[in-house]
Amino acid sequence: MMAFLYKADAVRGAEWARLFAVKAPDMPFHIWPDTGDAEDVRYLAAWLPPADIENRFPRLEILFSTGAGIDQFDLAALPPGLPVVRLAEPGVVAGMVEYATMAVLALHRDLPVYIRQQREARWAAHRVIPATQRRVGVLGLGVLGRAVLERLRAFGFPLAGWSRTRHEVDGVTCYAGDDELPAMLARTEILVCLLPLTAQTRGILDAALFRQLPRGASLVHAGRGAQLDHQALLDALDEGWLSGAVIDVTDPEPLPGNHPYWTHPKILLTPHVASMTQPETAVEQVLDNIRRHQAGLPLVGLVDRSRGY
Ligand code: NAP
Ligand code: GLV
Repeated sequence: MMAFLYKADAVRGAEWARLFAVKAPDMPFHIWPDTGDAEDVRYLAAWLPPADIENRFPRLEILFSTGAGIDQFDLAALPPGLPVVRLAEPGVVAGMVEYATMAVLALHRDLPVYIRQQREARWAAHRVIPATQRRVGVLGLGVLGRAVLERLRAFGFPLAGWSRTRHEVDGVTCYAGDDELPAMLARTEILVCLLPLTAQTRGILDAALFRQLPRGASLVHAGRGAQLDHQALLDALDEGWLSGAVIDVTDPEPLPGNHPYWTHPKILLTPHVASMTQPETAVEQVLDNIRRHQAGLPLVGLVDRSRGY
C-alpha cells in the first residue's frame, strides 16, 4: 500500500484530504498525528517534518514542503537520497503576485504617508510620480520573482532583477551574482526581496545594502525573516535614508508584541500572509509529481540540496 501523509495546517489538510479522495481515491491519505502504518508512508507533505523521518518512515520516497520555501527543513538531517520537492504551484504564485503588486503600489503611491496623515486628520497632497519614473528592483528571479516582474511591467515601472546565475527576462534589466548587486541597488527605488533563505542570503538586507539604495528608497520584504537585519531597517527609516517598508516576514515569527515594527509609522506589517499554497493547485502538483516519480521523470520543484533552495 502506498500511503500519503500530510503534516501541516489542519484546515488546508482537510481540503487536501477531500481532493485526494476525488483525484487519487486509491491512495490512503493520513493527516498527522494519524500516520496509518508507518511502513506504508511513501509520500510526506509537511511544513515541519517530524524528527527522525528515516527510521520512522523507512520507505519514504518523496518529501514535499507544503510551502514554496524549504528553509524550515534541516536538509542535513534528512536522508541524503530523499528527493525534497517544494510547491511553487500556480496558487502560491498568484498570491505573491497580488501581494507584491499591492505593496509596490502602496509604496509607489505613498500609502504609509497618507495613512499617517489620515490619523492626524491632515489633508496634504504630495506630487504623484508616474510609474515610468519609479525604478523597481526584485531580488530573486525565481518562479515568484519572475511572475511578480511580469505583472509589474504592465504599470510601466523601469524594472531590474537580481539572481545568482544569469537570466534574461523580457523588459527587465537583469543582474547576476554578488559583483553585480551594487549596480542593481544603485538604480532601485523600490526593492522587493523574493530570495530563498540560504547561508548566502541570511542577513542580506542589512545596513550596507540599504546604503547602496538611493536616498528615499523603500523595501518590500516577502522572502524570509532571517534575511532582514531588523535594527538596520529601523535605523535606515529613522534617519530618513529609507522612506518606507512593507514587511511580511520577520525573525522570529510571530513578532513579539513589543517589537517596534508593530507601531512604526513607516512600516506596513503583515503576518507572513503574502502568499499561501492553495489546496486545489497544490494537490494537482503533488499528484503530478507522484506520477512523474513513478514514471522515472524529473520532478517539478525538486530542491537542489547543494544550493540550499
Ligand atoms: P526559486 O524559484 O527557487 O527562486 C529563487 C531565486 O533566488 C532564483 O532566481 C535564485 O537565483 C535567486 N537566488 C538564490 N540565492 C541567491 C543568491 N545567493 N544570490 C542571488 N540570487 C539568489 O524560489 P521562488 O519560488 O521564487 O521563492 C522564493 C522565496 O519566496 C521562497 O524560498 C520563500 O522563502 C519565499 N516565499 C515567501 C512567501 C510569503 O508568504 N512571504 C510565500 C512563498 C514563498 P538563480 O535563478 O540563479 O538560481
Ligand atoms: C510561504 O512562505 C511559503 O514558502 O509557501
